[in-house]
Amino acid sequence: MWNRIVFAESLATLWTLPSESVHLIYIDPPFNTGKARRRTQIRTTASEHGDRTGFQGRRYETFKIGSKTFADSFDDYLGFLEPRLEEAHRVLMENGTLYVHLDYREVHYVKVLLDSIFGRDCFLNEIIWAYDYGGRPKNKWPPKHDTILVYVKDPAHYVFNYEEIDRISYMAPGLVSPEKAARGKTPTDTWWHTIVATNGKEKTGYPTQKPLGILKRIVLASSHPGDLVLDFFAGSGTTGEACHLSNRRFMLIDNNPEALHVMVKRFERMSDIEWIGFDPTPFENLFATGGDGLRHPSRAAL
Ligand SMILES: C[S@@+](CC[C@H](N)C(=O)[O-])C[C@H]1O[C@@H](n2cnc3c(N)ncnc32)[C@H](O)[C@@H]1O
Repeated sequence: MWNRIVFAESLATLWTLPSESVHLIYIDPPFNTGKARRRTQIRTTASEHGDRTGFQGRRYETFKIGSKTFADSFDDYLGFLEPRLEEAHRVLMENGTLYVHLDYREVHYVKVLLDSIFGRDCFLNEIIWAYDYGGRPKNKWPPKHDTILVYVKDPAHYVFNYEEIDRISYMAPGLVSPEKAARGKTPTDTWWHTIVATNGKEKTGYPTQKPLGILKRIVLASSHPGDLVLDFFAGSGTTGEACHLSNRRFMLIDNNPEALHVMVKRFERMSDIEWIGFDPTPFENLFATGGDGLRHPSRAAL
């Protein structure tokens, strides 16, 4: 089973792919926020004179250990996306599905664009991913959701594995039978899911990393084991990890070297990856020693 990670511009790579060769595409393009997206990684050490107060009033000193960034500003966002979405339509299999992850600034424009490329009858769902994290402005409703648009190539013939979808708890379990409450229910088009926790084990340090739970749900519902899944704005490689855990093949593309560094670490335990345009070896050696010359325990999951 091959998997590929490509360090390249997405459109140039899409042009090289055969038509109707991919079963599922998930993309999380830059959101056009007009800013550089930055995630600063810090380490804290207990210190009497530290700059932070933690649990039970303990003081901690903060050290900045690095930051990861990518540009997120486009004068012509739709002009940037359109040729890539046209290619996505071309490379999708006849029964394939496209998921496009967007925020409230661009989703309405991209919906109209996708309707023109796929056809309105190929629009399957608008998924709302709702979370609760970060600041709450007091001059408007705090925006706390992303939107994922779902299109199929053929509305009469597409993959949707209803039985594979994870089950969630009822909001009011007392209103259903104990058997139903124990079994849970399948999610609707509104997904409540936490963001990647800043101190959780899923966190890679890459800005805008999406939760594995969201990607696993998509991959399980809209592809079969052995299928090929493409993500041409791959970032930290969440789509790849979801595929690995679900026995799907993946092809990940990103043009930011920092994304590739993060993916080398994320997939350090996987051997069946072909790296294109990027040599992971120096980074693999660095990560094997934790960058400090010491051998660290291997990660269990990958
Ligand atoms: C929002 S992030 C994706 C985050 C990812 N879903 C994750 O979970 O980590 C968007 C990514 O698109 C990449 N990108 C932006 N323009 C690109 C282009 N023209 N070709 C390839 N990658 C690009 C950025 O480097 C960034 O890593």
